[in-house]
Amino acid sequence: MSATISVNGRITGERDAVISVFDHGFLYGEGIYETMRTYQSRPFLYERHMRRMRRSAELISLELPFSDDELAARIRETTDAATLPDEAYIRVLVTRGIGELTYDPHATPTPSVVIIVKPHVDPPRSAYEHGVAVVIVDVVRNHPGTVNPMIKSNNLLNCALAAQEAIRRGGFEGVMRNYLGELTECTTSNLFIVKDGVAVTPPLAAGLLPGITREFLFEIGSEIGIAVRERTLKDADLFGADEAFLTSTTREAIPIVTVNDRRIGSGTPGPVTAKLLAAFRRAAEEARV
Ligand code: PDD
Repeated sequence: MSATISVNGRITGERDAVISVFDHGFLYGEGIYETMRTYQSRPFLYERHMRRMRRSAELISLELPFSDDELAARIRETTDAATLPDEAYIRVLVTRGIGELTYDPHATPTPSVVIIVKPHVDPPRSAYEHGVAVVIVDVVRNHPGTVNPMIKSNNLLNCALAAQEAIRRGGFEGVMRNYLGELTECTTSNLFIVKDGVAVTPPLAAGLLPGITREFLFEIGSEIGIAVRERTLKDADLFGADEAFLTSTTREAIPIVTVNDRRIGSGTPGPVTAKLLAAFRRAAEEARV
C-alpha cells in the first residue's frame, strides 16, 4: 500500500502520518468519515458525499471545521502529492479531536481532519463476471436508537463483527438484519434485489447507511427505464429474488449469485443488474458530479 496522508493539513507518506493516542477518534471511536473515489481524476458525486458528511457530523454534534470548497482544496493538495497510476481512493475522517479522558466535548475544541489518498483498486473482474457469494450474518445491524446506521461513523465495530462472521463463513459480504429481522445492508455496501424487473432495496427506516451509490441508482434506473424502489425485505425476498446485487463507492454494483450457499435466480449475474451497472459506469465516466 502506498498512501499519501494529510493530518490536519500536514501531508506525509503513510509511515509519518501519526495522530495522538488522546484523539477521541482513537479513544472512543468518536468521529465520522466518507469514502470517495475519483473518475477522470475528479472525486465522483463530491457534493452528495459532503451532504452526507454534514448530516453525520450533525448527528454526533460535531462542527466541521471547513467549507466544502476548503475540503476539496485539501483533498486536491493530497492527491497532487500522491503517486496515482490511475484513479484515487479518498477517505476523509473527522474526529472529535485531542483532549482529556472524558466524553465531555468541551475537552476537545479542535476536530482532527485526516485525508487518506491511495490508488483506487477495482474489485476483481471475476466478481462482476461471475458474481459473488454472500451470507446472512447473525450479527444484527445497530438499532437506530443506538449508534444510528445513518451516521457514517468511525465507530465500525458493528460492521467489523459482521464482516468477521462473513469471512469465517466464506462470504464476500455479510448481509445484516435489523432488530425486527428485516434485511438492512451489507457490512460495507448496500443491498438490492431484483424481482419482476424491479430493483428493490430496503428503506432507510430499516436502519442502514444511505449509500451514495444506492441513491444515485434511483436516478440511473429512471433514466434507463428500470424501476428502483424501497421496500421492506425479509430473508425470503432475497432467497426468492430473480437477481441480487450490492453497491458501494469502491465496488459500483456487484452481482450476488448465492446467499448462504443457495442460488439466487439462475445463479449467474442477471440482466437488470448488468444494465444498471453499465448505466452507472457511463454516468461515472462522463464524470457527472
Ligand atoms: N462503504 N453501507 C455501509 C455500511 C458502508 O460502509 C458503505 C460504504 C455503504 C455504501 O455507501 P456508498 O455507496 O456511499 O459508498 C453502505 C465505504 C465504501 C467504506 O466503508 O469505505
